[in-house]
Amino acid sequence: MAVSLALPFTLLGIILLFSGSAAAEAAAAVDPDDSVLTLDASNFSEVVAKHQFIVVEFYAPWCGHCKQLAPEYEKAAAVLKKHDPPVVLAKVDAYDEKNKELKDKYEVHSYPNIKIIKDGGNSVRTYGGPRDADGIVEYLKKQVGPASIELTSRQDAIHSIGDKGVVLVGVFPEFADTEYETFMTVAEKMRADYDFFHTTDAGILPRGDQAVKGPLVRLFKPFDELFVDSQDFDNGALEKFIEVSGFPMVVTFDADPTNIKFLERYYSIPSAKAMLFLKFSDERMESFKSQFNEAAEQFSANNISFLIGDVEAADRAFQYFGLKESDVPLLFVIAQNGKYLNPTIDPDQITPWMKQYIYGNLTPYVKSEPIPKVNDQPVKIVVANNIDDVFFNSGKNVLLEFYAPWCAHCRKLAPILEEVAVSLQDDEDVVIAKMDGTANDIPTDLAIEGYPTIYFYSTSGNLLTYEGERTAEGIISFIKENKGPKTDAPAEGEEKSQMGAGAAEETSSSSSASVKDEL
Ligand SMILES: *[C@@H]1O[C@H](CO)[C@@H](O)[C@H](O)[C@H]1NC(C)=O
Ligand SMILES: *[C@@H]1O[C@H](CO)[C@@H](O)[C@H](O)[C@H]1NC(C)=O
Repeated sequence: MAVSLALPFTLLGIILLFSGSAAAEAAAAVDPDDSVLTLDASNFSEVVAKHQFIVVEFYAPWCGHCKQLAPEYEKAAAVLKKHDPPVVLAKVDAYDEKNKELKDKYEVHSYPNIKIIKDGGNSVRTYGGPRDADGIVEYLKKQVGPASIELTSRQDAIHSIGDKGVVLVGVFPEFADTEYETFMTVAEKMRADYDFFHTTDAGILPRGDQAVKGPLVRLFKPFDELFVDSQDFDNGALEKFIEVSGFPMVVTFDADPTNIKFLERYYSIPSAKAMLFLKFSDERMESFKSQFNEAAEQFSANNISFLIGDVEAADRAFQYFGLKESDVPLLFVIAQNGKYLNPTIDPDQITPWMKQYIYGNLTPYVKSEPIPKVNDQPVKIVVANNIDDVFFNSGKNVLLEFYAPWCAHCRKLAPILEEVAVSLQDDEDVVIAKMDGTANDIPTDLAIEGYPTIYFYSTSGNLLTYEGERTAEGIISFIKENKGPKTDAPAEGEEKSQMGAGAAEETSSSSSASVKDEL
């Protein structure tokens, strides 16, 4: 069975909020009252045209993530309006009918959606930074002013390069030539994620050959080999170099906020994931680290990315993957063809086990409750080992709720589902079912970002999520509207299925954030 590789946004959100809180407090000292400009269709163009650099949040009044963002955005705006040069933060209610044209023009499909608009509207980029006040301030400060700053003294260089993040320094005989231009273009493009500097004097740099004249780019990083040089200024090569060399061979999941950027990237690269979770206070930590690094060096070329995580800092992620703390030190691999576990591993078993994985000698692990022997209640029980039979291949219209035992919204929903099941009992083409998402692996095709999540699979092959009101009437009329014909009858036309999917999307953007329990 396929398993989900992605870390859902909600979980990253938790990590980000957690790490940004100290910084947010600092910003709170500034008076936060209406520093954010409110714009609408009547004055948007006029205001944007007046600004060399303006940030606009497109929000919707019902969106939960927007509500979380609002106070942070306000605080950031209060700080940034005092910055030199001032940075203006604005917001638009994209859900308001009168602003629909703006919403379409800026291709706002999810909320909140923040755009950085430059040159009076001529350049538009989507904001990709953190969502806490201090994170926003830091990110935006980097976006104004020059993309790369000249280093002129050793003190300057040591201070700027530091030992926290990835820093790029371009060394040039003079600030002209195409290599310099390329460096500046790349700096402009990647400035949000890395710090860029340039100099004519490699002698002031803390690491690497000090006699070079350039053109050369030296990447400083607080991990692996600490610095790398590149002289390849060909198209795309510099960007690639920065992305590859600026990314640690083994990503660390702990409480250090500088690692968040790497974590986000780690979970978004399409590769198999090898993750070693243990207590970082474990006395064999150094041994685990060096053995895991060795494995990473040996096997990174096999399309596997490596992460070492502290269970104490990463417990939500750990739970998300359905793992038990009693299993640590735990090495596991999540790949497209399954999940592989090696609980209570010793350091010297890491490399041999990874080899077994690569040779295809391991059996994937599927977490499943036992298939129930009797399943005669109105709401049927689905587990990982029978989801194919009951949900995907049953030839019926199946409404399946994913729940968690601890989820309050799910408990509220239970009698409602029961009611739905009872009232549709006579329709033998319809099945109402539920699955404990914490006790069973969930197939990749069914993205679960919170509980409860309700999927519907019709006999005509439409896979929809139910995002409507959690009432028996609502659910019943949804089923009646979307159910397909008896499987032996010919399927209906395309038109209906597209309408079905479109409708699900619309409601999903309008209510999912506010009604779901947290993960
Ligand atoms: C834009 O117009 C709206 C009313 O349509 C007003 O509430 C808002 O304050 C205006 N914004 C600016 C920056 O003038
Ligand atoms: C790497 O693995 C991912 C997920 O397992 C897969 O989607 C991707 O196609 C693989 N890439 C290569 C080059 O094999």
